[in-house]
Amino acid sequence: MAIPFEFINEVKERNDITDVIGSYVNLKRNGRTSKGLCPFHSEKTPSFTVFSDTSSFYCFGCQTGGDVIGFIRKIENLDYVEAIKFLANRAGMQMVEENKNDGLSQMRLKIREQNREAGKFFYHALYSPQGRQALDYFHSRGLSDETIRHFGLGWSPDDWDALTRHLQKLGYKREEILAADLGYNSRSGGVIDRFRNRVMFPIIDLQGNVTAFGGRRFTEDVKGGKYVNTGDTLIYKKTNHLFAMNFAKNNKNDELILCEGYMDVIALHQAGFTNAVAALGTAVTPQQARLMAKYVSRVVLSQDGDEAGQKSIVRSIPIMKEAGLDVRVLQITGAKDPDEFIKKYGPERFKRLVDGCSNDIEYSIARIENKYDISTDDGRLHYLRDVCDFLGGLGALEREVYAARISDKLKTDKSAVLSQINASVRRRKFNEKRREFREMAQASAGIGDRVNPQRSSNLRGASAEDAFLELIYHHQNLIERAAAEIKPEEFVTDFSRRVYEKFIELHALGEEISVGLLEQQFSESEISEIVRIINGEGMRGTSDFGHLMAVIKEESSRIKPSDVNKFSNDELLEQMKLLRRKKS
Ligand code: UTP
Ligand code: MN
Repeated sequence: MAIPFEFINEVKERNDITDVIGSYVNLKRNGRTSKGLCPFHSEKTPSFTVFSDTSSFYCFGCQTGGDVIGFIRKIENLDYVEAIKFLANRAGMQMVEENKNDGLSQMRLKIREQNREAGKFFYHALYSPQGRQALDYFHSRGLSDETIRHFGLGWSPDDWDALTRHLQKLGYKREEILAADLGYNSRSGGVIDRFRNRVMFPIIDLQGNVTAFGGRRFTEDVKGGKYVNTGDTLIYKKTNHLFAMNFAKNNKNDELILCEGYMDVIALHQAGFTNAVAALGTAVTPQQARLMAKYVSRVVLSQDGDEAGQKSIVRSIPIMKEAGLDVRVLQITGAKDPDEFIKKYGPERFKRLVDGCSNDIEYSIARIENKYDISTDDGRLHYLRDVCDFLGGLGALEREVYAARISDKLKTDKSAVLSQINASVRRRKFNEKRREFREMAQASAGIGDRVNPQRSSNLRGASAEDAFLELIYHHQNLIERAAAEIKPEEFVTDFSRRVYEKFIELHALGEEISVGLLEQQFSESEISEIVRIINGEGMRGTSDFGHLMAVIKEESSRIKPSDVNKFSNDELLEQMKLLRRKKS
C-alpha cells in the first residue's frame, strides 16, 4: 500500500479523534479525556476513554486501543487503506491514487466472486432432480418459489467436494476456496466442502453481494449442528451483519423487526413484513445496533418466546438504546417464534402484535412482576426492591414516571418508591467507582496482561519501563540520550524492550513517533497496550528520567530463578557477571 505518510498525517489532523469517535459513542468530556460506553464490547458503565492529547483511545474493559484510523478500521470493519479513504472522505479530502493490485484487495475480490458462484451453484442444485428433497422441505415450510428466488435459497449437494470441484473448474485455487471458507482442509490433504447436504441461506451485504452462507440441516442423517455458518473471512464479519438488511434497508417504515432466525425473517418477508432482519443467533452487537440506527429510529425486538429468547432481549435492550434506537418488545404467545406465529394465526394478527407491543421499560418491569406474587406482602416487597433497583439505572424523567405507576400499582406512597430508587442510584454510582478502581488496579498490576505477560512478575521494572516509554514518547528529543545510557537489553519485559527498540530505530531514521507509525509495526493488541502506556495509564510514580533509568538498571540486574529459562546461555553469563560485579 503506497499512501504517502504525509497524506496519512493530514487525514489524522483533519479528523479530530474526539469528534470522530463522538459520532459513534456518546462521550462525556472530563478535561483532556472523554469517556463513554465501549462500542466494541457490551458494558453498562463507561470504560472507553478517548485521549485528546495523544489522539488515541483505550478501553479498560476489553483492552482495545489505537488511533483514529484504528478506531475506524474496527468500527466500520475496514482495512487500513479503506479506513484512510473513509476518513479522507469525511474531511473532504481527495484520496491519493490507490493501488488496487495489492494482495488483500485481490483476495477480497476472489472471495466475492466465489460466493456469487456458490450462490448460483446452490440455487441450481436445489432445482435439480437431486435437490428434490431439499425443495420439498422449503415448500413444506410454506415458502413459495418466488420467495426462494427472492432470497436466493439453495441446496448444497450431498457430496464431499461438489462445490470445491466446481470452483476449481472455474479457476479458483485452493487457498482462495479456503479463504472464502467455502471449503476446509481434510486430514488426507484434500479440500472438503464446508456445506454438504444442507438447505442454504445466502447472506447478502448492503451492496447486494453474497458474502457468506448459513446451511440448515433438513434431514436426520446429516451430521453436525442444526446450522453451519461461514466463519469470518476478509469480507465478512458475523457480528457486523444483519440477515436481510439488504432488503429491509429499502423499506419505507421507520422501523425494523429484529428476529432470531433466518426462517423467521423469510416467513415475515413473504407475509409482507419486508422490514424484518435477523442478528443470526447471537444477541445483537453494538455494530449491528448502529447499522440499524443508520436506517431507522425504532426497532421491534421479536425474539423467540423461550427463555433464551427473553434473555437475549434483556441483553439487547441497552445495546440498542446506546445506539440511539427506540426499542419495542413484541411478545409472542401461542407459538414459539414469529415464523410459527404467522403460519398459525396469519399476518393480520402479527401486525396487531407489532402495533401493540410495549416499550422496553414496560417489558422489563413486566418481566420482574412475573417473578413474584404481588398479592402477598412478601411478594410485593421483593417486587418493589427489584423494580426500584432496575429503575435506578434509568434517567431522572423516566424514574419519575415509572415511580408513579409503581406506587399506584402497589398502592404505596410515591415518595417511598422514589427514595428506594434513589438508594439504587447511589448504589450504582458506588459500584461503578469500585469497578473503575479495580480495573485500574488490575491493569497496573499487569493481571491478565496477554501482551506483556512478564509484567505481573516484575511489576516494579515493568512500571518503570512504562513510565520511561511514556516520557520519551512525549519528549522525543530525549530518545538519543536514552539510547546512549540504557540498552534495550536492559529492559526486563520483552514487550517494553521491543517497543523501546522500535522507538530508537524510528527516531534514528528521523521519524516523529506516533501511534499511526507504530501501527504498521505492532499487532492490534500490542498497539492497544502501547496506547495505554503513552497515556500514562500504567503505574504513575515518577517521571524523572534519571530515576526511572536507575530503577530499570537495578531491576535488570536482579535475576530471579524463574527467569533463568528465559535467557540464552550467553545472556545468562552476562547476567551473572553483572551480579558478581554488583556484589564486589
Ligand atoms: P433457531 O433454532 O430458532 O432457527 O435459531 P430458525 O432459523 O428459526 O430455524 P427453524 O425455524 O428451526 O427452521 C435461530 C438462529 O440462530 C442461528 C441461526 O442463524 C438461526 O437462524 N443458529 C441456530 C446457528 O447459527 N446455529 C445453530 O446451531 C442454531
Ligand atoms: Mn424457527
